Amino acid sequence: MRVDVLTIFPEYLAPLDLSLVGKARSAGILDVRVHDLRDWTLDRHRTVDDTPFGGGAGMVMRPDVWGRALDEVLGLERVVDASAASVDPVAAPARLLIPTPSGTPLDQRTAEALARESHLVIACGRYEGIDARVAEHYRRVADEHESVSVSEFSLGDYVLNGGEVAALVLIEAVARLLPGVVGNPRSLDEESHGSSGLLEYGVYTKPPTWRGLDVPEVLLSGHHARIERWRRDEALRRTAERRPEILERADPGAFDPHDHDLLSSWGWTTGPGGPRRPGEADQGSSAG
Ligand code: ADE
Repeated sequence: MRVDVLTIFPEYLAPLDLSLVGKARSAGILDVRVHDLRDWTLDRHRTVDDTPFGGGAGMVMRPDVWGRALDEVLGLERVVDASAASVDPVAAPARLLIPTPSGTPLDQRTAEALARESHLVIACGRYEGIDARVAEHYRRVADEHESVSVSEFSLGDYVLNGGEVAALVLIEAVARLLPGVVGNPRSLDEESHGSSGLLEYGVYTKPPTWRGLDVPEVLLSGHHARIERWRRDEALRRTAERRPEILERADPGAFDPHDHDLLSSWGWTTGPGGPRRPGEADQGSSAG
C-alpha cells in the first residue's frame, strides 16, 4: 500500500519509522511518503494560509497551494514542477482523506475498508482548516474519475491543532490490518471492535496473584470451552457497561441463548430488534 501525507510539519510524522508501522515500511508492505506542503508554494515566504473571508479568528489554508499539491500527489497532473521534483506520482485509484473535527468518525470498519485500498493520500490541515473548496473540488473530480474518492474523517468529538495526529492514527489503524504486519492475525479477530463487534475481555498474565488481586480462576483451569465462555461473558459485560450503544447496534443474530440470559439478568431486553438497555423500549421496524 502507498500512503502520501501532506503537511506543513513533516517532522510530526517521525513516529512512522517506529514499531509495527516502521517494520511494515522496511518490509516493503507499506510505502509512506511525507511531503512538505510548502514545496507547492510559489512565493518567497512559502505562504500556505490567509485571513478568512467573512472575518473571524485565525487563518485558513489556501486552496491554490493545496490544489497544486494534491493534483500532483493524486496523479491528476503529470507535469512535475522542478521545485517539487521529489514526488513520484503513482497510478490511481487513490483515496483522498482529510482529517477534520467536522468529518465522519473514524471506526474499525472504515480502517478495514481502507486496508483494501492501494493508495491513500492524507491532507493535514492546520490553523482554522483548509478552504472548503478543496474538498468540494476533489469531490467533483471524484464524480468524474472513478480513480479518486474523498472522505473527511474525525478522530472524535474534540479539537486538535491539526490533522497530523489523525494521520498517524489512521495509518496505524490501517497498517496493522495489512497482511503480514501483525504476527498472529487471529489477535485481530479477538480484540475490541474485531469481528465479534464487542469490546475485548480483560487479559491477564503472571503472576497469578498481584497486590491481593487474583487472576480469574477459570483462566487457570485449562478448560478451553469454559475459558471461551468466560471471555464471551466478559466481553458482553464490558460492552454493556461501557458502550451500550455498540450492543444496541449489533446484528441481533450475533447473540446466543446464553448471551440473552446474561443480558436479561442485567435488565436488558432482547427482542427481534436486538438487545435494548434497561429503560430503552425496542422501537422495532414499524416506527415512523
Ligand atoms: N483536526 C483537528 N481536530 C481533529 C479531529 N478531532 N479529528 C481529525 N482531525 C482533526
